Formats: sequence, C-alpha cells, structure tokens
Amino acid sequence: MIVVKTIEEMRELREETAGSVGFVPTMGYLHEGHLSLVKKAREENPAVVVSIFVNPMQFGPREDFKSYPRDTRRDLAMLEPLTDIVFIPSDKEMYPKDYDSWVEVKGLTDVLEGAVRPGHFRGVTTVVAKLFNIVAPDKAYFGQKDAQQVAVIKKMVKDLNMNLEVVTCPTVREKDGLAMSSRNTYLNGEQRKAAAVLYRALMLAQELVFRGEKDAGAIRLEMKELIEKEPQANIEYISIADNETLKEIHHIKLPVLVSMAVKIGKTRLIDNIVLE
Ligand code: PAF
Repeated sequence: MIVVKTIEEMRELREETAGSVGFVPTMGYLHEGHLSLVKKAREENPAVVVSIFVNPMQFGPREDFKSYPRDTRRDLAMLEPLTDIVFIPSDKEMYPKDYDSWVEVKGLTDVLEGAVRPGHFRGVTTVVAKLFNIVAPDKAYFGQKDAQQVAVIKKMVKDLNMNLEVVTCPTVREKDGLAMSSRNTYLNGEQRKAAAVLYRALMLAQELVFRGEKDAGAIRLEMKELIEKEPQANIEYISIADNETLKEIHHIKLPVLVSMAVKIGKTRLIDNIVLE
C-alpha cells in the first residue's frame, strides 16, 4: 500500500495503474461501513484507491469540523490489507489560498439534509468532483447510509458527463440496528443505547407499510411518537419521500425513502431505509 499526500503524486501513480480503478472517498476514522465499500471496490477492480480528507467545505460554521474524529495511523492499519493507494491531501493541497470554484447540484439538494445544512452538499459535490478529477476512477463507492449524498453525486456525474460509475453499497449496522458512523464515537454509554431508536422507527415504518398503511402522514406521526418516548432524542426531521425526487409524499407509492435526522444529546445522527 502506497500513501501519497500530493495531487501530483496521486496523478503519477494513477497513470502507472493498469486496469480499472475502484475509489472510496472517506473522511477517515474508518469503521466496518467504510471497509464494506473498500471490500466491494477490491472485489470489482484490480486497483483500489481510498482518500482520507476531512473536507472543511462541507461543514457549517456551527458544525463539528474541528472535533470530527481523526486517527490516520489506525485508518492506515485497517486499509493495509485491502488498498493499493491511500490519498491523504492537506487542506492547502485541496484548497489553496486562491481557490474559487464550486460544483453545485440544484433541486435534489433543496430538501432533507440540504434544507437544514445550507452549503453542505455544495461542499460535498465540490470535493468529490475534485477527487474524481485527481484519482480518475472507473468506479466510485458510496454508502446508502447517506442516501441523499449518493443521489446528489449520481446526478452530478450524469449532468456533468463524468466518466465513471457510482456504486451504492448497503448500510452496515451494529447488532441493535444503529447505522455505523464515525460520529457514533461522540455518544456516551446511555446515548449509545438510546441511538437504537432511529432504527426501531425505520422498522416501524416498514412494518406499517407492509401491513398496508398508505397514509405517509400517519406513518410519520407513529415514528415521531416512538422516537419521542426516548428522552435523549430530539427529532430534526422525519421524511417519507419519493426515492428518486426526494420530495415528500402524502400517499405511499413504492419505492419510498424513509429517512430522518435525530439528535441524541448533542450528536446529530441520520439514517434511512428504502421500502420497495
Ligand atoms: O461521506 C463522506 O464521508 C463525505 O461526505 C465524502 C463523500 C468523503 C466527501 O467528503
């Protein structure tokens, strides 16, 4: 495994690489969810590149950029058996002083996470477009855990005719259903137990739909009531939306995306399932 820090080195290595390149962009502090993406990339490509970059542009001014967990040594040890190249650029390397360009996807970013985290997706699409330009992958791997992020990136790739395939991989969960996330490390013992309520609410929505409930409002309400029983939980949004447009729906017509953002203590968690 080769670790590179500059765009120039990354480009040189890419040029020397034969066959298809699978790419997994990450912000580090890796867990089994990330590794599932890397394993999938490994299965499907002779060469695997992973990037580790905590992208300042996708954090709001009151968000956790400074406290975001970082442990590069641990990340590299986890990647070693699965990865050929790890790209770890500095902030300056990615955004030099005179940096002025942005990639923005309209529409899909107006709702859900985009509505409550202004500028977040502009930061994501800008850094992902830059990483795609630098790494030039044939396939890039993203987790379904960030359902809206994958939808936005797929739209960017399509609209801007980027020459790669975006592969979506299933959410990896803990035993009690909590979706794996680097931010789970912020939770103390009691909050960690409370956090399982997100998954229970998703399972409730699934059960209601499969039992024939067609009223999305009624499902949202039952999910809300379940989550509110958990004293540590504060709901930011609960959404039942069309899986393609991400717009809220009133009447269930599959496939639908059921998603939510809930604060457990000070930690903001997101999760979703697609009902098909
Ligand atoms: O999902 C993430 O970890 C980040 O949003 C990504 C795609 C690496 C861009 O910074």
